[in-house]
Amino acid sequence: METLLLSTSDEDIALAAEMIKNGQVVGIPTETVYGLGADASNEEAVRSVFAAKGRPADNPLIVHLADFSHAVKYTSSIPELAYKLAERFCPGPLTMVLPKNERIPMVTSGGLDTVGIRVPSHKAMHRIIELSGCAIAAPSANTSGLPSPTSAEHVMRDMNGRIAAVVDGGQSEFGVESTVISFDGADAVRILRPGAVTREMLLEVCGEVVIDPAILHEVDAGAKVASPGMKYKHYSPKADIIMVEAAMDDFTALVGENYKDNVWALVFDGDENGFPYRNMTYGADSSGQAHWLFQRLRELDDLGAEKVYVRAPSTEGVGLAVYNRLIRAAGFEVIRI
Ligand code: TXA
Ligand code: MG
Repeated sequence: METLLLSTSDEDIALAAEMIKNGQVVGIPTETVYGLGADASNEEAVRSVFAAKGRPADNPLIVHLADFSHAVKYTSSIPELAYKLAERFCPGPLTMVLPKNERIPMVTSGGLDTVGIRVPSHKAMHRIIELSGCAIAAPSANTSGLPSPTSAEHVMRDMNGRIAAVVDGGQSEFGVESTVISFDGADAVRILRPGAVTREMLLEVCGEVVIDPAILHEVDAGAKVASPGMKYKHYSPKADIIMVEAAMDDFTALVGENYKDNVWALVFDGDENGFPYRNMTYGADSSGQAHWLFQRLRELDDLGAEKVYVRAPSTEGVGLAVYNRLIRAAGFEVIRI
């Protein structure tokens, strides 16, 4: 199959929507990362998404809607708090896990009786959902296990020949996937995956926000997890990633002791000044780091990096999302000095 590269012109958006309506899989831009979109109620189309990614069948897909008011069509009940959150954060990078109804097939929900609902803000994505008339199931458009794609080029690299088309909607704004939450009582939510809607922001609407322990710690093999994605190795480039929590002096010394061919450092903007070893920078603050992280991990692979020492980001605000992706990319290998 030849994968078409589409633009965000009216004709191309209409074509992408038509393809999804007809059961094909299309790479689509969102404000977080690119997704692999298919009609959420078409079992065969959804199976093609799992096949294109090589994704385990028990890892559910997020369902994307044009407006949160459409969630009633696909869920069996919606708590009051979800409406309050939607008012504040939809459209945007927030996914709410709700009890699903029969319009969402078990293939889409990975066998769970819940569904993650998200209303993306990216204009082209919004148009595609509207024109297709579908709820669009879309996981991140990477091959399972690799870093999520933040450009159409990344999607092409992973998916060329495996899907019908990719819509180039530019570089993803946030660069990390949406915040995934579940409901923990009338006024409380639990963060299952941190993203650009931060704990601090959720606390403006919710009485209590619990951070699931699996966000920062490895789960034991066979343990019961709140979100299937927590079990799998993720965001991993070919290179061996090592997170380092240390001041710049100690970080520099550590890289020096281990320096040889194909060893790299991934540091904050500004750290590179006077740093004597091969390096790349990934932003100055948490949102910059979120924006650049996956792009840099892919670039390091292109350069043949075998070992990458990464300065660990702050866990404040959106930094928690960056830290969470990195610690998984590192297989939980952290050096603290
Ligand atoms: O920003 C995003 O969320 C992107 C864009 C394309 O929208 N999508 C995305 O999908 O990151 P994916 O499939 O790569 O990650 C979805 C995560 C997985 O870890 C999955 O286990 C979890 O959300 N998830 C989905 N539905 C769930 C459910 N019903 N219950 C618990 N966790 C769920
Ligand atoms: Mg993903």
